[in-house]
Parts: sequence; C-alpha cells; structure tokens
Amino acid sequence: MASDLTPSRPAVGITAPGAVSRPGWRERWLRWRNRLLADPRFQHLSAAFPLTRPLARRKARALFDLCAGFVYSQVLLACVRLRLFPLLAEGPRSVADIARHTDLSEESARRLLAAAASLGLLEAVSGDRYALGDLGAAALGTPGLDAMIEHHAILYRDLSDPLPLLIDRAARTTELQRYWAYARTPRPAHAEDGAVADYSALMAGTQPMIAQEVLAAYPRFGRHRLVMDVGGGEGAFLAAIGTAHAHLRLRLFDLPSVTARARARLAKAGLTERTEFAGGSFFDDPLPGGADLITLVRILHDHDDVRALAILKAVRRAMPADGTVLIAEPMAGTADAEPIGDAYFGFYLLAMGSGRPRRFGELKSMLAVAGFDRVRRHATRQPMLARVITARPGPRAGAGG
Ligand SMILES: C[S@@+](CC[C@H](N)C(=O)[O-])C[C@H]1O[C@@H](n2cnc3c(N)ncnc32)[C@H](O)[C@@H]1O
Repeated sequence: MASDLTPSRPAVGITAPGAVSRPGWRERWLRWRNRLLADPRFQHLSAAFPLTRPLARRKARALFDLCAGFVYSQVLLACVRLRLFPLLAEGPRSVADIARHTDLSEESARRLLAAAASLGLLEAVSGDRYALGDLGAAALGTPGLDAMIEHHAILYRDLSDPLPLLIDRAARTTELQRYWAYARTPRPAHAEDGAVADYSALMAGTQPMIAQEVLAAYPRFGRHRLVMDVGGGEGAFLAAIGTAHAHLRLRLFDLPSVTARARARLAKAGLTERTEFAGGSFFDDPLPGGADLITLVRILHDHDDVRALAILKAVRRAMPADGTVLIAEPMAGTADAEPIGDAYFGFYLLAMGSGRPRRFGELKSMLAVAGFDRVRRHATRQPMLARVITARPGPRAGAGG
C-alpha cells in the first residue's frame, strides 16, 4: 500500500544507509541562512540598517502573528458572538451605540473594536464611530462562516496540547472524534440522527461556496445524465448542481440517517422528482450503478490512505465505461494557500482522528491504483476552499480489492 502511494516529495539529503552524502547546494544555503537568522547580533543589525529594516520588521511581525494566532481568532469569535458584522451592515455606528447593542461597557466595547479594527475586521471612522472593515464585510457575505468560527471552539480545545495527538493519534478520544460520528466508528451506517445532525448542518451551511467553485470549474455537467454524490450530506451540493442543470438526474449516497435529512432539503429545492436517495456505508455496501458522474466532495481527506483508496475502488466498481469521477476538496501544497492545506487541515484531521490533506500528485497516484486514468485538474477561483480533479475509468484490472 505505502509503495503504491508514496508521495512525490523531494527527498532532500536521503541516501542509502552507511553512505556518506555531501549536502546539496540548497541544504548548504539553508544552513548558512538559518545560522545567520538565529544570530541575535544579526537580528539587531538587520533591524538597525535602513536597507534591511523593512524585511527584518516583516519577518518579526510574521513570527509574532504565529504566536498570536489564537488571540486573533478569539477577537473574531467575540465579533461573531456579539453579531457585530450584521450590526454594522447598514453603516458606521458610534462606540456608545455599539456598547448599548452588545451589552458591553463602553470601555470593553472600545477594546474589542480597536482589536477588530487592527485585524481589518472593522475600520475606525470619524466621530468615535466604527464601520465594517474589508474582512468584516467579506465575513458578512460568506455563508456558514459564523457556524464554522463557533465550531472552532471544539477544535481549539482538542489542540490545546497537540503533542499527545502527534505522538499517538489513536490514544486519546477527542471532542472532534465524537462530533464527526463516522470518523472512528467501525459501523458508520448505524449512526443515528442525533449523531449526524450537527456536522450535517455545518457542512450544508458551507456547501454553497464549494458548489459554486465546482460549477464554475467543471464545464461538462451539461453532458452528464445521472450524478451520484457520494457522501453528499444533506444534499446541498446536489441541490446546487440540479438547480443549475435542469436535465440532470440526481442521486445522493450517504449514511441512512444523513440521507433522511437530505430529503427535506431537496424537496424544498423542488428536486424530489429528479432525486434518488441511497442510504448505506461506502465501506460496507456496494454503491448503486448507472451514474455517469460520481462526485466526492470533501470526502477523501476525511479518511486514512487505506480507507480513501477503498472509497475510490468502490466508485470505480460502480462506474460505467463512459463515467467520470470528480473529486473536490482542499488539498495540501496548494500554491498561496499552503498553511490552509498543510497546517489547518493537517491538524484539524489529526484532531478528528482520521484522514489527512493530500497533494494533487498523491490523489493522482491513488486514482491510478483504484483503476482510473486520464486524471485532469480543473482550476477553481478559490483553490484554498477546494480544488477539483476528474478522472475516467481505466482498464478494469486496477479496480479489484
Ligand atoms: C465532510 S462531510 C462532506 C459532506 C458533503 N459532501 C459536503 O461537502 O458538504 C462527509 C460526509 O461523508 C459522509 N460519510 C462518512 N462516512 C460515510 C460512509 N461510511 N458511507 C457513506 N457516507 C459517509 C458523512 O455522513 C458526511 O455527510
């Protein structure tokens, strides 16, 4: 298994046991640079010298931002809990007025407003008033963001000491494992409504942004007949696709308690007639056949390699010869969003007890092992939210197991 899926990362400085290797130019440069940057005298001089000062300040600020990240997110949480962004949606308000609406003392309101303004969430304007900042305005228009910010309280509790999780991920039961009822259970199909309701609502709340990305990135929905969304949650993705492409037949596959929740949403979107619901577990039940487009939206990263490969093989078995699989999820190594894939999702999934973010090359290798070829990337507008890959069935031989 591991040899099938070995990630295509540069193996810097790896040599056969016993061999003496001379470090390459990059390693020598890194050693030299890092010795310099760690030297307090160099830090002092580079901050004092006018030509290097801007760079020295930027680096010091970046390091401080890493130390302070939790504080910044708590400022955001306070804004969300006090509903500051909707309060300022119609225009600036005075500090006294904001204090009245939020039940804070003027002193506390002023502290919070100044903190939020320093982070770009708000903006101070004349007359002791505050307006939305560019980030606050963007937050106001981002569906599901408030719920996600609230949800992070669980994540931060789990990550309050990351070392036990890194040392042995399975040794501790985290709150996130309980929240994502399917993450570590041997019989996911038995999860009852109470166990799936919270995560299903959270996913449905953020799904519109993802569906927009996929609709814009993949131009061939018009050519398909039947789309099966595997792990499709409450059906928000199918509802968006079905609304945009009126000819498509739709099928939702998810745990039985989740598909039961999806019926209401698809009925509300007027799509009941065009939709089939299939309840089961993709690890234990065969996926129904006949869909010429099978979508996996924010699914594979939830699962460790063996299980993720099992899902791809199940998809391959269910797929007609002219079928397509479409994978949409945030990925590791995404240009300009590296910390979102590798740090945020890497540690989120660590705490959840299952899965990891993968690079495009890793998913491509897994697709090949599962019996797919013709792997293509489809550029999305916001790659940090989701990147999109499609693949077509290859020779049957790869799909066994
Ligand atoms: C992270 S959520 C993504 C939901 C949806 N695709 C979206 O993007 O909003 C993962 C989904 O996979 C479903 N799931 C997890 N394990 C499953 C299993 N063994 N069989 C079927 N569905 C499963 C969950 O119920 C959940 O709806």
